[in-house]
Amino acid sequence: MKTAILYESWHHGNTKKLCEAIKKEYNDVVLLNAKEDAIALEEYDLIGIASGIAYGKFYKEIEQITKEKMPEGKNIFLMYTCGKLGQDVTKSITKTLSSKKCTVLGTYGCTGYNTYGPLKLIGGMNKANPTEDEIQGAVKFYGDIISKLKK
Ligand SMILES: Cc1cc2nc3c(=O)[nH]c(=O)nc-3n(C[C@H](O)[C@H](O)[C@H](O)COP(=O)(O)O)c2cc1C
Repeated sequence: MKTAILYESWHHGNTKKLCEAIKKEYNDVVLLNAKEDAIALEEYDLIGIASGIAYGKFYKEIEQITKEKMPEGKNIFLMYTCGKLGQDVTKSITKTLSSKKCTVLGTYGCTGYNTYGPLKLIGGMNKANPTEDEIQGAVKFYGDIISKLKK
């Protein structure tokens, strides 16, 4: 089974930490940076979409690439880091994915260091996030997804 994780993590590299921890444990996973890498997703059986959150949604680059380049019918998992948990941040991306008949197998979200706007003046929030436990939570989340798919 071939997995790629399409990610964008421009604010503080918080989401990238989750992706890199997964790659460290499962080294056949391919990480694709939404801004820097050529995005060709057809060959992958499982595709992760990972992003920081801006204005209640996955980053616009990720939303756009998903619209333009996600093949139909793929198995997907979603990961994000955000300033504050508890918002429905996957609504927009999920809508795009369902229009492409993709199946979302699971979602993992945790908090991440945030210095957006006036937060910068007070040194930001969630300075220590994602914590090692939150990062390992993402690795376990991925492990659970692939073991379900292999059954
Ligand atoms: C322009 C901007 C807008 C943001 N909007 C939200 C938001 O609507 N909700 C939220 O919980 N966090 C928001 N955040 C915080 C980020 O989602 C959070 O810091 C995230 O961990 C950044 O991920 P990254 O380092 O992988 O880019 C925002 C941050 C920025 C810079």
